[in-house]
Amino acid sequence: MEKPKFYLTTPIYYPSDNLHIGHAYCTVATDALARYKRSMGYDVRFLTGTDEHGMKIERKAKEMGLTPQQYVDGIVSGIRKLWALMDISYDDFIRTTEPRHEQAVQKIFKQLYDQGDIYKSDYEGWYCTPCESFWTERQLKDRMCPDCGRPVEFAREESYFFKLSKYADRLIEHIRQNPEFIQPQSRTNEMLQNFLLPGLEDLCVSRTSFNWGIPVSFDEKHVVYVWIDALSNYITALGYGSDDDSFFKKYWPADLHIVGKEIVRFHTIIWPIMLMALGLPLPKQVFGHGWLVLDGGKMSKSKGNVVDPVVLCERYGVDAIRYFLLREMPFGSDGNFSNEALLTRINSDLANDLGNLLSRTVAMIEKYFGGEIQAPGERTEMEDKLIALVEALPARMDEVMGQMQFSTALAEIWRVVGECNRYIDQTQPWVLGRSDEGKARLASVLYTLAECARMIAVLISPFMPGTPARIFEQLGVKDEGLQSFDSVRRFGGIRPGTRVKKGEALFPRIDIVKELEAIAPKPAQEAQTRPEKAENAAEKAGTQAKSEITIDEFFKTELKVAQILSAEAVKGSDKLLKIGLKVGTEERTVVSGIAKSYAPESLLGRKVILVANLKPAKLRGIESSGMLLCASEGEKLSLLTVAEDIADGAEVS
Ligand code: MSP
Repeated sequence: MEKPKFYLTTPIYYPSDNLHIGHAYCTVATDALARYKRSMGYDVRFLTGTDEHGMKIERKAKEMGLTPQQYVDGIVSGIRKLWALMDISYDDFIRTTEPRHEQAVQKIFKQLYDQGDIYKSDYEGWYCTPCESFWTERQLKDRMCPDCGRPVEFAREESYFFKLSKYADRLIEHIRQNPEFIQPQSRTNEMLQNFLLPGLEDLCVSRTSFNWGIPVSFDEKHVVYVWIDALSNYITALGYGSDDDSFFKKYWPADLHIVGKEIVRFHTIIWPIMLMALGLPLPKQVFGHGWLVLDGGKMSKSKGNVVDPVVLCERYGVDAIRYFLLREMPFGSDGNFSNEALLTRINSDLANDLGNLLSRTVAMIEKYFGGEIQAPGERTEMEDKLIALVEALPARMDEVMGQMQFSTALAEIWRVVGECNRYIDQTQPWVLGRSDEGKARLASVLYTLAECARMIAVLISPFMPGTPARIFEQLGVKDEGLQSFDSVRRFGGIRPGTRVKKGEALFPRIDIVKELEAIAPKPAQEAQTRPEKAENAAEKAGTQAKSEITIDEFFKTELKVAQILSAEAVKGSDKLLKIGLKVGTEERTVVSGIAKSYAPESLLGRKVILVANLKPAKLRGIESSGMLLCASEGEKLSLLTVAEDIADGAEVS
């Protein structure tokens, strides 16, 4: 019989920077589901990739003296390495700069134009470069981008427009008829109330102000709007619009697009309308997950608060990180990341609960039965209860995985891990081991534990793909049949006579206090973490004669023009000002010791020079991402500024 297909996707990532743990969150979750579906016998196609066009990338590449292609190539190779490190089992990785994608997007655009769904007109309005979104005056919030709150630029140009309005009623009807289409349910309401029911305006779908995009094939001064380009990836990767569209025929419509909550709008309004216009079926579901936040705020490079997944995986192991991401918070909601929460989970759930269960079971089989799993005797009520619990897990997982409740799935598995540990405490194997009669009972107890550990190893495999093999090795389970999901529907697979072998601890316990200390900012950074020290450091640096440096050493300092958007005094300090800056497409906060020389309001709008690659530091609890250059004469300070017609973001060298 042919396997049922399951096509699922992550968003394609902007290679505008290295990915952080928040990006890994979405991909790890999608991977867990892909692995689970494969174990359930589905023919899974799991797509991820990179979204490589747009003004932001063009600007960034220019700043770095690279071509956009060189710039994205470097970052994309890092992204692929990250996914390899994190055991992401994607079936295809699409880059929007690949010919297979570009050619198909050009065809899609042309078809929509030929059939009258795309038309040419003039665009006037506001553009948010970081979000690559157009906004009308009415949509702006306090004259800023309503999505990200950053400044917008006024744009007027000849553009192509897509007739979203023509399809709005059909889409509303589709959403109403298919309550599963947008999940979680709250996001359906949000889309209807905030966007669809108030009425859709036609969408501007081409740009002429930059080049790094897919040219409109019949009007080459235009490039295709990045979201039309990006969303198409879900079908171009399947060969839609190419000579070989067999994958498209097999896998489309997508069963599931997993996306972050801020891009649900694009996936549930623009994308379905594009598909309707192309006469294609709509994806079955779009799931909008929450954000992994740091101290309540979104992670972003400009805030300097990102957490590097490579560092975490190297320090604590990939499976520990995957476990934490999937266990810590329900998938639809936001959740906080902290080192302390991560280390606590590793110690309690992984080292104590799972690790101890395995090590105690194997050690006792070695101690009492020379390392050989014995045939179990008659079951007591205790075994019946435990076995009923573990046998109920597969059905329960089916239910919760269908709702993308990864944290519930893991919580349920860990409930059984906990019950197994309690079973050890209740049966007291160390007492049973003292007598022959007790040993007969002990054989049953240890069989039960070994079999439960095997079943648990299978059940955690979608979430923690590296750990099951280490458990099977210690349990002596070599038969692949006993490593499959089929084998965990019924208790009793592991064969008496199997030889166990104690190995290394699955997850060594971490001394949390020491570890938190070890990963805390190092002395060099600490100098900047206390205002007095940072100020002293700057003073010292200013008065000391400096040794010669090479031009290469000088160029390690990234100096940029920044425009001051806001300035306010820092509470409790007469020297420090908190300054909000715009640096090209980025925004930053810098704490600067210029309060005695400048009133905050006198700074607004000035274009100053920022040391952009200075390690972020906390000053009076405020994260400062960079430093402003100042000339000083005793107490007197003078900010270095540039003429107004130099754009912020420009490099200084
Ligand atoms: N390129 C677009 C997607 C186009 S899909 C046709 C994009 N890229 S992104 O790199 O900015 O974000 C990719 C995904 O990562 C989004 O779903 C976003 O929500 C997710 N995340 C980025 N930071 C995140 C957290 N801190 N936490 C959870 N997910 C986060 O948007």
